[in-house]
Amino acid sequence: MAAAPLKITEIVLRDAHQSLLATRMRTEDMLPIAEKLDQVGFFSLEMWGGATFDTCIRFLNEDPWERARALKKKMPNTPFQMLLRGQNAVGYRHYADDIIERFVKQSVEVGINIFRIFDALNDFRNIETAVKTVQRCGETVEGCISYTVSPVHNVELYLKMAKQLEDMGADILCIKDMAGLLTPAVTKTLVTEIKKTIKLPVHLHTHATTGLAGMNIQCAIEAGVDMVDTAISTLSMGTSHYATECLVAGLKDTPRDTGLSLDLLEEINDYFAEVKKKYAEFESDFKSVDISILKSQIPGGMISNMENQLREQNAIDKLDEVLEEVPRVRKDMGYPPLVTPTSQIIGSQATLNVLTGERYKVITKETRQCLLGNYGKLPAPISETLREKIGDEEMTVCRPADLLAPEWDTVCKDLGDEYTSEEDRLTYALFPKVALKFFKTRGKPQPKPAAKPSPAVTAAAPVAPVTAAPAAASASAVYKVRVDGKDYTVEVLTGETGAAPVAVSSAAPAAASGSPLTAPLPGSIFTVKCKAGDAVTKGDIVLIIESMKMESEVTAHQSGTIQSILVKEGDNVQTGDELVIIG
Ligand code: CO
Repeated sequence: MAAAPLKITEIVLRDAHQSLLATRMRTEDMLPIAEKLDQVGFFSLEMWGGATFDTCIRFLNEDPWERARALKKKMPNTPFQMLLRGQNAVGYRHYADDIIERFVKQSVEVGINIFRIFDALNDFRNIETAVKTVQRCGETVEGCISYTVSPVHNVELYLKMAKQLEDMGADILCIKDMAGLLTPAVTKTLVTEIKKTIKLPVHLHTHATTGLAGMNIQCAIEAGVDMVDTAISTLSMGTSHYATECLVAGLKDTPRDTGLSLDLLEEINDYFAEVKKKYAEFESDFKSVDISILKSQIPGGMISNMENQLREQNAIDKLDEVLEEVPRVRKDMGYPPLVTPTSQIIGSQATLNVLTGERYKVITKETRQCLLGNYGKLPAPISETLREKIGDEEMTVCRPADLLAPEWDTVCKDLGDEYTSEEDRLTYALFPKVALKFFKTRGKPQPKPAAKPSPAVTAAAPVAPVTAAPAAASASAVYKVRVDGKDYTVEVLTGETGAAPVAVSSAAPAAASGSPLTAPLPGSIFTVKCKAGDAVTKGDIVLIIESMKMESEVTAHQSGTIQSILVKEGDNVQTGDELVIIG
């Protein structure tokens, strides 16, 4: 085979910080280095899509469309690449075809050239609409095989997928090893066989979590891989990718010499080394090598997100337990590859199984939809336990998006005259609640959140009433206090009145005569589905808690009448907090 320079896709602006810094890198930290990045001569620069869209509006008060446009202005020469989750676009559910078409067109509009499109279940009916739209726009389709390891996945299956993607008209074939599960031998076989089976260029995306990425890339190079993803060294390795500079240095004066300048890369790296310091609080604890990933099969980004979620719930000590629960849930759900959104669905379900202390006590809406086939065909049958949990609801066998009515008109109607741009409408279509909040704060400087009071106060002796209010708080602070081995939750209320009344729950009997339904998991109240006076039967859905970006149904623990509702939409609750009184 004629040796050509190996092409490099630099991923520092998307996957690298998604894997290592919980996707928190801001546009202001990308723009100063953009011109230098543009001079390197990368095959492409991955800078959009994946979790960046959601994070921009949810946490950074940034307009993701604006980010793409601003970067493009400074980088006219390097093709821009984004990660697109097929029918999920950059969200976590399937959107109707009209939304997907408009989203792709608008992405082209802001400068995206190469669309790496995947489906979490490798059900390619879910990428059809996106692929066709990219083709109509005249841009490049990179079709993905989401690589995973399971009793039902093997090389023959992957070759069939590669052929399918070629037949669909993909321009490039990507092996997307999002969890870093590839081994050198498998990489070599896979790339060799795919090259024999199809004519498309092959692009390798492999995470460094297990420390095998360098060896995998070497084997892929020997098998004739065309492009490889890497990250500038300061944001490489760990749960991210192999380092760009290592690959460039390692291939120097070989037939696959990348031709890229190490001096330029060094300057870029020095820049990001400084930037990284700003994001220390989001840095993943997994920084070196974890070979156990070959067993748990948890992608880099998923671990750092789960860590953050557990930390927010003050349950970081449960991380190992959750990591152990993930493969079990995955098996029960028919071995879906772990990649967004299945990684979130399975990760959240595993977290719930651990935090609630009982497997499948709470099933998220998304878990149920996945089991019903509404995300596409699962690779293997689901477990009996879960089949029983979904009852006799009908399974979906057609392309899931065929069941979705067009959504655009509703989006326009919802937003009315207030937000009429194509981009705002799309942002709203993807993340309605978050978008509305974001539109109100956009362009306004956001204060840094005040330091939280210490979450846990442990006292050895009976405690005096807690009167010290946290310095800068205007809301209430919750303290867990242990007295004679018994746990009490103490809520210190502070507010405009200046008074600091103290409410002690758990220790005091509930005011109403009924029995309280308590939160099985921490999160925020998404919807309250009942009102005082309603009759409920045990098992009825009383409210929905949003936790870890998933909606979880909370059902009545007993039959009776709703006597009082103690929470409202938007309230944050902790495990054990009383939600409603049923009597
Ligand atoms: Co990745």
